[in-house]
Amino acid sequence: MYDEIVRYSDGDTDTNTSTAPSIQDLVAARVSRRDFIETSAKSASVLAMTGAVAACGGASTTPGTVGSAQIALSNTATTGGRVATLGATVSGATSLQWTQVAGPPVALSDPTAAAPSFVAPGVTAATPVTFTLTANSSNGGVQTGQATVTVSPAVLGFTAVPKNRDDIVTVPAGYTISILYRLGDPIDAATPDYVGNGTDTNFGARAGDHHDGMYYFGLAATGTAPDPNSSTRGLLCINHENITEAYLHPNGVTSVGGVRPEAEAIKEIEAHGVSVIEVTRAGNTGAWSYSRTSTLNRRITPLTPMQINGPVRGNALVQTAFSPAGTTGRGTINNCANGFTPWNTYLTCEENWAGYFRRRSATDNPLRTAKEITALTRYSVGGGPLGGGANSWFSVVAADPANTTYRRWTAEVTGASATADFRNEANQFGWVVEIDPYNPTSIPRKRTALGRMAHEGAWPGLFVAGRRPAWYMGDDATGDYCYKFVSATPWAAADATATDRLAIGDKYLDTGTLYVARFNPDGSGQWLPLVFGTGPLTAANAAYPFADQADVLTHARLAGDALGATRMDRPEWTAVNPANGEMYLTLTNASTRGGTLPIDAANPRAYVDPPSTARGNRNGHIIRLREAGDTTEALTFTWDIYVFAAGSDLDSVNINVSGLTADNDMSSPDGLWFSRPQNAGGVGTPLIWVQTDDGAFTDVTNCMMLVGQPGRVGDGGTRTITSTLANGSTVSQTTRVGALPGTNLRRFLVGPRGCEITGIDSTPNGRTVFVNIQHPGETGSPTPPNPLPSNWPATQGGTPAPTARPRSATIVITKNDGGVVGV
Ligand code: FEO
Ligand code: CA
Ligand code: CA
Repeated sequence: MYDEIVRYSDGDTDTNTSTAPSIQDLVAARVSRRDFIETSAKSASVLAMTGAVAACGGASTTPGTVGSAQIALSNTATTGGRVATLGATVSGATSLQWTQVAGPPVALSDPTAAAPSFVAPGVTAATPVTFTLTANSSNGGVQTGQATVTVSPAVLGFTAVPKNRDDIVTVPAGYTISILYRLGDPIDAATPDYVGNGTDTNFGARAGDHHDGMYYFGLAATGTAPDPNSSTRGLLCINHENITEAYLHPNGVTSVGGVRPEAEAIKEIEAHGVSVIEVTRAGNTGAWSYSRTSTLNRRITPLTPMQINGPVRGNALVQTAFSPAGTTGRGTINNCANGFTPWNTYLTCEENWAGYFRRRSATDNPLRTAKEITALTRYSVGGGPLGGGANSWFSVVAADPANTTYRRWTAEVTGASATADFRNEANQFGWVVEIDPYNPTSIPRKRTALGRMAHEGAWPGLFVAGRRPAWYMGDDATGDYCYKFVSATPWAAADATATDRLAIGDKYLDTGTLYVARFNPDGSGQWLPLVFGTGPLTAANAAYPFADQADVLTHARLAGDALGATRMDRPEWTAVNPANGEMYLTLTNASTRGGTLPIDAANPRAYVDPPSTARGNRNGHIIRLREAGDTTEALTFTWDIYVFAAGSDLDSVNINVSGLTADNDMSSPDGLWFSRPQNAGGVGTPLIWVQTDDGAFTDVTNCMMLVGQPGRVGDGGTRTITSTLANGSTVSQTTRVGALPGTNLRRFLVGPRGCEITGIDSTPNGRTVFVNIQHPGETGSPTPPNPLPSNWPATQGGTPAPTARPRSATIVITKNDGGVVGV
């Protein structure tokens, strides 16, 4: 005989009732459920209800005996994405075999073990997942029984992380992080290990700086082909948006008479761009590492050959001394957020490219047309007596006089024509760039049909066969716009497995319509088409006479101005809810809202967040929209505001409108992502992940990442917010606000000092999440006597490392029990 133990299957206290049922209840349950089936021919009559019961809640048991084998099974409950353990107590069996007989297919850790585990699938309603256990005993007897785990929809599965200003990454109890890929890490065997004292060179074969937008592409066992379901081997595409240049050199940045050394400039240039690295997991639950020898590893930099595609290809606006035909270019820069395609390509987006160019308006404007000056001013290309030009790369005197790598950063009229100088070089930037990560020799294509702006991401809506797909985009400048590109080509699912991926990109991304958003006060909205020859987008437009469609796309901001689009509070990332197609857009903050930028329904707050005395939308918000007919092709939508960021101590009526608490208060939402639909985090009520890039709340906490489960557009109501303007007058604005997030939004991670959290993806199974930590210690200097403001990631183990320079890095987050991260 044995004492049967009713196992509690998943360690989830949410479903474990604290009051144990009575013995009578359990006996009644096990009699009524009678899962046990006796199949032994020799012992057909020996099924016995024996043994004491040590009870937890919610389970029934059915013990029995055949010869020496005895098994007892439990029915249990859990929620999507958590680890469930099948509850069997076994004695006397010579072998066991579990077989799933009902519910969404799951993978058992060991189908021959007494108590194997599995990750609960994503479900939209309580769903039984049932298994048969077959037990063989030494005398030839066989017993079978059934166990059911009832899986309910996923819920958040962590305790909020407190705000902090520590110099490490903090995650909830039950989770672990590791460091995967840091600034300077070599991506081939020939490049030396990173020393990190400013002497390292050849960033074209090392991780760049300022890791940002990111996407994981599964890699098949062949090591060359896509496998969208692989969660143990893949290619990570990682943007390197910018640099903390002081840390790249032994004693910070140097120049002589305003002229930068070529050796410093080339390091800084090559530390920008994109990484493609192969990453693998040791088994299903082991450690992640990147391969230093993969032939698919690649760095794309501001020097990498590019092809210009779409309506602007060959236009005079993109002709330069390097590309007289206007069909090719060199490199990509300030790659911020990202997107993807279902044909397995990466979209990297060029954000603050304008600042790298020098253009002295006093001397250059007289050589330009009035129209050119309007365009250059609207896009902030140069200006002023010094003309700008970040890092002064333009100043380098190249060792090879024929090398125009540095001269190109002067976007001025210096030659007889546009093909004799680089006056148009800035027009080659501000695009969405498509990269085939599986072909390291492929030439990336600038997709000009998606418009030119300070691109954040380009995140697609849902792909439905026969429907024209769309990509949603933010233009990150104060008062700029939200855009949507709708392909001219209806989606054909067979294209997802094509091998000529960039040709498929030509099919969907080179022809279509770019729209800009207008948000109306009543919660409705329109997509306004940027089509040359329609409305004000003609040569007769007085503010800016458009020449053709290429002109409209190259100057999408001017087209948006002409169409009356809604000026937003710095549109950052877009994300799409995989369950319903609703689009979310972070509006990170706006210093002039309530000042030169009037308050409106979609951007309804202006206020002061102490200790700063600055006024505006100091903490940002997240707006969302639902397309009419729930289709990417829609021309109208409805909208509301998912959450207003704010400190929980601020005015609950007019500032902390969403009622944030110590568990979820934040500032400057920026990165944004929904869990993938292939795992429980992206099914039912998918998880939204919000990352901050903040300067207003940093007196209290480092930047952070939160996870929530939002509802739907329209699940709240209207609110009227009163703002006090700088002149003391007040403005009351009625807006649309979603249901308060409450505990369905929690802080999951806090980063090290001086960082921004930006960039996130997961493996398809959701059991690994990759996150980028950008520019820790951003404002510091490597030269004494200044102490370094951060030493991360060297500090992550808990040991001080006061001389270690900080490094941007990709981290890996896993749940200690192997479940889906976040639930
Ligand atoms: Fe690169 Fe606007 O964030
Ligand atoms: Ca950003
Ligand atoms: Ca940034």
